[in-house]
Amino acid sequence: MAIKKLFATPIWSEKINFKEIQKDKLIKDILSNYKKDKYRNKWDSFDQNGTPSITHLSYRDDCNTNFINIDYKKYGLQKAIGKKIKKFIKTLPLKGDIKYEWGVSTYHVTTKNQFMSSHHHLPTDFTSVFFIKYNKKIHAPLTLYAPYGDIGLYIGMIRPALFNNANLDYLKGHEDIYPEEGEYVIFPSHILHSVKALNKTNEPRITISANIKIDSVNKNYYK
Ligand SMILES: [Fe+2]
Repeated sequence: MAIKKLFATPIWSEKINFKEIQKDKLIKDILSNYKKDKYRNKWDSFDQNGTPSITHLSYRDDCNTNFINIDYKKYGLQKAIGKKIKKFIKTLPLKGDIKYEWGVSTYHVTTKNQFMSSHHHLPTDFTSVFFIKYNKKIHAPLTLYAPYGDIGLYIGMIRPALFNNANLDYLKGHEDIYPEEGEYVIFPSHILHSVKALNKTNEPRITISANIKIDSVNKNYYK
């Protein structure tokens, strides 16, 4: 009998067709903001462990009055991501009429030595990352952490032979994801994730994230 996996974490991904969005204009505007302030994370500087991120990320740009306003609808991105989310929701084994809401939360830029500390996106249900400017040969991966913690560290100490020789999924503490450029990746919001300082050059790594809430009661959450 084949092994059945319990507590498996769903990761969904599909490419967004660049012809559906104004990719070049969106990247140009984001990079224009990045050049004005490499460290946009004025309000979001610490993760839950108190570790500061060093990156161009913020959920608000109220004080960045010299920034170009990134209106995702204008670039066609709202529509393109919305289509993917609709498709993803249909794959979930949900019963009855499903209501969901979602919103693009922010864009994120890193160059060499910049990183984003581990964090989650609770209380939303799923979060997602669109790799609009990404080259797996030179850019840091998206690192996802196991929901049960790094049990492999303990097993590695008491059973080094087992840990070092077996590729057992349940012992993994984290996984580095190297998507293709244009890929849109969705995963549960409680999964801690980070972007390590592994960019090899100063070529910007740009991603855009969106959160999804199933059957939300608070209609104003994303506004
Ligand atoms: Fe995130």
